[in-house]
Amino acid sequence: MNLPDPPVLHLPDALATEALARRLAPRIEPGFVLFLSGDLGAGKTAFVRALLRALGFAGRVKSPSFSLLESYDLSRFRLYHFDLYRFDSEQDWLDAGFDEFIGAPNVTIVEWPERAAGTLPAPDLHLLLRFDADEGSQRRVVELVAGTERGRACLKVLAPDDGHC
Ligand SMILES: Nc1ncnc2c1ncn2[C@@H]1O[C@H](COP(=O)(O)OP(=O)(O)OP(=O)(O)O)[C@@H](O)[C@H]1O
Ligand SMILES: [Mg+2]
Repeated sequence: MNLPDPPVLHLPDALATEALARRLAPRIEPGFVLFLSGDLGAGKTAFVRALLRALGFAGRVKSPSFSLLESYDLSRFRLYHFDLYRFDSEQDWLDAGFDEFIGAPNVTIVEWPERAAGTLPAPDLHLLLRFDADEGSQRRVVELVAGTERGRACLKVLAPDDGHC
């Protein structure tokens, strides 16, 4: 059976990326796992920052590029935001003991999940951001891939026409 192509959305500027995060926010619940892929500067952290704002977090949202992990106490759950860019091998995820943070009651967001591909569980939703024009342009494209039923429900909200718009 051929699976349909994942939906793709165009994000003309950072505001569009933030708006997408705001639309996802109501779907985030304990146990949710979100992967964010894309080159350096594609907008992964910008997306997380807008998501946290929409989830009611008013404080500073730092990129975990150096710390590997930032965590946030929200009213309904604790959210762990990872950036695995600096990982040397998949084993680093297990060695760091990060496995215990994934799953209910927490929410987990992982930038650069491919750095620990073999050791991470399947995400509910995987957003793959890429530049849609020359460097310096604000235009991005995002592909939305669901890994679970919960993720597929998100796609119905985020890309109701099955994307490609
Ligand atoms: N369409 C867009 N979507 C998201 N961010 C955009 C867009 N256009 C411009 N930007 C800007 O690009 C930058 C993206 O930086 P961000 O830290 O989110 O990247 P990143 O993907 O997390 O990179 P890294 O892999 O280094 O962590 C921000 O300054 C943001 O304002
Ligand atoms: Mg980042």
